[in-house]
Amino acid sequence: MFTAVPPLQPLALGWLSAACVQVAVLRLDLIDPLISGNKWYKLSEHLHHMEALGASGVMSLGGAHSNHLHALAAAGHRLGFETVGLLRGHPQVTPTVTDLQAFGMALHWLGYGGYRQRHDPGFWAPWQARYPHLLAVPEGGGAEAGARGCQVLLDLVRGQLPALGWDGFDGWWLAVGTGTTLAGLVLAGGAPVYGAMAVPEGHGVAENISALVGKAGDYELVDASRGGFARVDDELLEFMLAAEAESGVPLEPLYTGKALLTLRHNLHRFAPGTRLVFVHTGGLQGRRAMPGCR
Ligand SMILES: Cc1ncc(COP(=O)(O)O)c(C=O)c1O
Repeated sequence: MFTAVPPLQPLALGWLSAACVQVAVLRLDLIDPLISGNKWYKLSEHLHHMEALGASGVMSLGGAHSNHLHALAAAGHRLGFETVGLLRGHPQVTPTVTDLQAFGMALHWLGYGGYRQRHDPGFWAPWQARYPHLLAVPEGGGAEAGARGCQVLLDLVRGQLPALGWDGFDGWWLAVGTGTTLAGLVLAGGAPVYGAMAVPEGHGVAENISALVGKAGDYELVDASRGGFARVDDELLEFMLAAEAESGVPLEPLYTGKALLTLRHNLHRFAPGTRLVFVHTGGLQGRRAMPGCR
């Protein structure tokens, strides 16, 4: 449906060169202006499933800044399928919500309590009754299909290593929300996967990952949450803005900024000569609503 190859680019930052650690960034943010980041890969298998079922669209869940709903709504608008978004909390206007409406997504606000029930076994039944012709996709485009869609990233990296003069790489580094993208990379194999957890412990992310990859996968989770999901502090913002200015790679604080700062804090763990692939998981649309980031 959509085949742009995300560029793999050297990440030029003084603190990486000083440690003799080479990092290449896989620019998933560049595959499309709207259907950007890991979202497309997580959605792709769900969309094949939608077609195979003969469903006429997709309904899914997210918050008022959700990168996942944004990519889904943009994909529906572009590719011509119906989209429904079930949103956390009460009606509010954010740049993301305005876009969702402009892309033609039908929105339903579930409140906070209603949204918390999203993992209950009967959660989807009334929505499936209301929209019998739509495929229900879990929060963040997750589940096994979401992980499967991310496995292709290994081939997309391998195909570009010769241009960097690399004959291989020693690990992936990426931000983790639900853990679906990380699970896809673990299932693809190829190199150890380091997941910088944007969500603090206790939200079922580790359990979600082991349900997708089993116990034996070659991965490690590192806390990157800075004390809470969506928590942004001065050190993070200053680091992010400096890294952007030096490298020319745009970031946002909730995922990619936290992941890169956490790499810096963990750099001592990597021997000189190590080569890492940092996955830029996109999310730049969410930055519009963040003070200090524009
Ligand atoms: C920009 C960005 N990066 C990373 C993630 C985390 O991906 P995953 O949920 O697959 O762990 C998300 C959201 O889920 C995101 O929006």
